[in-house]
Amino acid sequence: MFYGYISGLGYKSNWVIQGMPRVCHSSWLLRKKYPTVIKGQIIIGENFQCVNKFTSNSIGLIQPCLFNVSASGSRIIIGKNVGISGSTINATTTITIGDNTIIGSGCLITDTNSHPIMAAVRLLPNGGEEYTKKAPVTIGKNVFIGARSIVMKGVTIGDGVVIGAGSVVTKNVPANAIVAGNPAKVIKFIEQ
Ligand SMILES: CC(C)(COP(=O)(O)OP(=O)(O)OC[C@H]1O[C@@H](n2cnc3c(N)ncnc32)[C@H](O)[C@@H]1OP(=O)(O)O)[C@@H](O)C(=O)NCCC(=O)NCCS
Repeated sequence: MFYGYISGLGYKSNWVIQGMPRVCHSSWLLRKKYPTVIKGQIIIGENFQCVNKFTSNSIGLIQPCLFNVSASGSRIIIGKNVGISGSTINATTTITIGDNTIIGSGCLITDTNSHPIMAAVRLLPNGGEEYTKKAPVTIGKNVFIGARSIVMKGVTIGDGVVIGAGSVVTKNVPANAIVAGNPAKVIKFIEQ
């Protein structure tokens, strides 16, 4: 374990990082054309905990964390006291993660379909990038996202929400709800 520096992310002395996360600032296509291009931005608050080694989590990791901000103007904004275990945060617009939120092992948070749905458009020279649906994702404060969950484009998750393990969240979730399943549905509310 070490404190601080993550390659491509920066440094805060009170971060706790186990193993090495991966950061993608520019796509391989853009890198080939413009070798020094830095496209997106990652902003991380105090006390960030990020685990990336198989043994750094009680249930094991299937991947190190991957932060992708390779699209022009993309942003990942992470609040204070956030913990992420071996998950992918894939931003082409903006993905915001609120204070005190914890993200379990093997999750995917993505704000894009990554490819257009029409086959003919996917065959365009750039893969039909401009036809790909994208929308920002906002995750509130004090959220707990269970292991192996997926949060899809355009979703807003309210404060205090719990997402059951293995859920696929496709719609907004109200504050203090517990949601689970595919597609995720409210199973109960947490009494405050
Ligand atoms: C969502 C969760 C917190 C709910 O826990 P709980 O309050 O004890 O709820 P219960 O176990 O009583 O389950 C309530 C109902 O939700 C269902 N449910 C619970 N978790 C579910 C899940 N992940 N997917 C689908 N349904 C789920 C149960 O089957 C039960 O259904 P029923 O009322 O029809 O019997 C828990 O099940 C969970 O998924 N925890 C995440 C664990 C995890 O990923 N840890 C991260 C490690 S890195």
